[in-house]
Amino acid sequence: MAVSKDQEMLRLHGRRVLIAAGGGIAVYKTVELARLLLKRGAEVRVMMTDAATRFVHPTTFAAITGRPVGLQMFHDDGSPEVGHLELPHWADLVLVAPATADLIAKAACGIADDLVTTGLLAARCPVLFAPAMNPSMWEHPATRTNLQTLRTRGAHVVGPETGEMAHPDELPGAGRMSEPSAIVEEVLRLLISSGDLAGRRVLITAGRTEEPIDSVRMLSNRSSGRMGVALAEEALKRGAEVVLVHGPMDVNPPAGVETVRVRSANDMLAAVQDRIDRMDVAIYAAAVSDYRPKQALKGKMKRENTPEPVLELVANPDIAAETASHCPGITVGFALEAGGDLAPARVKRARKGLDAILFNQVDAIGADTNRLTWISDRESEGETSPSASKRELAGWVLDRVVNFLRASP
Ligand code: C5P
Repeated sequence: MAVSKDQEMLRLHGRRVLIAAGGGIAVYKTVELARLLLKRGAEVRVMMTDAATRFVHPTTFAAITGRPVGLQMFHDDGSPEVGHLELPHWADLVLVAPATADLIAKAACGIADDLVTTGLLAARCPVLFAPAMNPSMWEHPATRTNLQTLRTRGAHVVGPETGEMAHPDELPGAGRMSEPSAIVEEVLRLLISSGDLAGRRVLITAGRTEEPIDSVRMLSNRSSGRMGVALAEEALKRGAEVVLVHGPMDVNPPAGVETVRVRSANDMLAAVQDRIDRMDVAIYAAAVSDYRPKQALKGKMKRENTPEPVLELVANPDIAAETASHCPGITVGFALEAGGDLAPARVKRARKGLDAILFNQVDAIGADTNRLTWISDRESEGETSPSASKRELAGWVLDRVVNFLRASP
């Protein structure tokens, strides 16, 4: 599946990057770095050391990101400007750029004497350092040892590069901060390419279908599309290339996925058939109308002509049943059932030829939270999720999909 330029551009959609800017002249390049990350769809927040604000005014970062910049731990009136743990706990990745010799040393020692160093100590997500300093500081054994300490603890490092220094009197040497585009590539690698669905092609059906009665009326259902969209977002975060084949929904599809908008079950079937043979994973989360009017009338059916119309219905194709066997990868469906009996869902899984089916109760449709039971004849059989938001459930489902992929030949 080809990922379009736009989708590629938006691969960081929804990912939260916290930039920790140290006080080096290279911070002028961090402005461009923030802009590039935003262009890739990332959410970006910035915190700055006091020294960093001597080189670039916080207003520049605030204007570019549209968010307040974290500067100080304490305020005279006692109010926190940005809570000192709020930013590191918000982030999916902390990017220290420029990482000065001082910031690297403090991080290696676990010093937390301002907002930035406290944030680095509190961060539980990956931390990427982009060192920038003059060659004599870069080559100093203290800096080398400090960086090695950070690496041993799991920190990532990009650069520095060898080349001209910002100051015209300084000799060229190692210590130049990597170019913003190279740093963005490293962010992509850490956040996307290392995901457990990296390089996997995932097709998700979502939303409801609409079956025309005439040109203005239709048969449909109350599905919101939230579960399918949550799955698409989660798969994207884990590095997958995602195709979302969707009918009408109450939510927008996430940026960064290939979307195929359809209306009827027949259109959805055709869109899935066109793509299924290239997929590593297919998840059928759409609420497909079981029936459609035998004939869709052109124009509007008139009340005067048909005071008591009888709607003749025919069965729609079962998209999962018709396409699952053409998927070279893992196929997963949903079984929305009344009552707690799992038996009908087991029968459904076998009849549709799916690897797994997620049992859920009827009241889940359109609801914000849900509970799922994973039914299969192999991995994770019988496991039930906690009652959780659709976003959390998407993670739970994809954890099991990943286990399935790992266990597959
Ligand atoms: O048979 P039932 O509608 O309960 O099956 C639900 C599962 O089958 C869901 O995964 C749904 O997306 C899929 N399905 C389908 N095409 C249909 C009906 C259901 O793909 N016509």
